[in-house]
Amino acid sequence: MRYNIADFVNGDSVNEFFVIKAADVKTGKTGKHYLAVDLSDATGIVSGKKWDLYPNERDFVYGLKAGDIVKISGKVTEFAGTPQLNIEAIRAVSSEEPIERSELYKTAPEPSEDMYQWIIGRINAFEDEDLKKLCLSFYEDNREKLMYYPAAMRNHHAEYGGLLYHVKRMMMMGERACEVYTNLSKDLVLAGVALHDIEKLNEILSDENGMSPGYTTKGQLLGHLTMGAIVIDGRCRELGIPEEKALMLEHMSISHHYEPDFGSPKKPLFPEAELLHYLDMMDAKMFDFEDTLSNVKPGEFSDKVFQLDNRKLYKRTF
Ligand SMILES: [Fe+2]
Ligand SMILES: [Fe+2]
Repeated sequence: MRYNIADFVNGDSVNEFFVIKAADVKTGKTGKHYLAVDLSDATGIVSGKKWDLYPNERDFVYGLKAGDIVKISGKVTEFAGTPQLNIEAIRAVSSEEPIERSELYKTAPEPSEDMYQWIIGRINAFEDEDLKKLCLSFYEDNREKLMYYPAAMRNHHAEYGGLLYHVKRMMMMGERACEVYTNLSKDLVLAGVALHDIEKLNEILSDENGMSPGYTTKGQLLGHLTMGAIVIDGRCRELGIPEEKALMLEHMSISHHYEPDFGSPKKPLFPEAELLHYLDMMDAKMFDFEDTLSNVKPGEFSDKVFQLDNRKLYKRTF
C-alpha cells in the first residue's frame, strides 16, 4: 500500500515514488545550496526540501524538471501548519521499477475513451448538420490530445482526462437546462460547450500524463478564448458553415469567462452564450468542492480554498 500525500502526518517516515511538479536549487542565507521541490501524487501536492546536496548528486538535482518521477525517502515535518517533506535521499527511477500510474497521477474518474465516445454520441445526435459537422471535425482532429489533456494547469480539472470530464459534465447539465428553458437551441448550447475550451489544447502544455508544466507562448499572448474564436472562424470557412452560426460560436468562445478581468472582451449577448458561462462556472466550482472535500474527514472543515474565495468547506457526516 502506498503512503499518500493526503495522509502525511508530522514525524512519519516516507519512502515512495513521486512526480516532480516543480524543482529549484536555491541558495540559503549562509550561501549553502539546497533543493526545493513540489512533489505530487494522485492525492495531492507537498513541498519538500533537501538541505544537504552531495557532490555526486549535483548533476541529477540540477537536471530535475516537472514530470520527472523520483524515489524519495525522508521525514514529514510541519511548516506553518502544513506538512512538508524533509528529504534525506532522492534518486532517479529506472524503467523496470513497478510504478502504478494511477497512484501517481490525478485522473478523471471515468476512462477517457468512454467520455470521448459519450461526447461524440451527443454531437452525432445534433439536428443541426452544420454544428454537427463543425464539432465532429474538431473532436476527430484532436482525439489523441483530448485523451490525456487536463482542463487547467492548476485549478479545476488539472488532471489526466480533465478536459473531457469538464466537457462531458457541462453537456449533461446543458441538456437538462434545455428541458427547463425550452426556447434555447440545444444544439447551439452543446456545440458551445464542446468548443468553448478546445484551444486549451494549444494554450497550455501537457505531458501524456496530464501534467502541465505551463503555458505556450501563443497561450500566454492570446489565451484560449481568442484562440478558440480564431480556429472556429477558420474551420467554419473551410466547411462552408453559414456566417451567423460561425459568429455565434465565436462569440460563445470569447464571452464564456464573462468578465474582462478573466479574459472576456464581450459579455454574452444571447441566452445560449449566457447559459454556457453558468455551465462552465458551475462545473468548475463543483469540481473544486468535490476535490477539496475528498481529503476532509466527515464533520470537519477544510483548509481555506483560494479559488473558492478562501472559504473553509464543511464535509457532512450523513
Ligand atoms: Fe474557458
Ligand atoms: Fe471551461
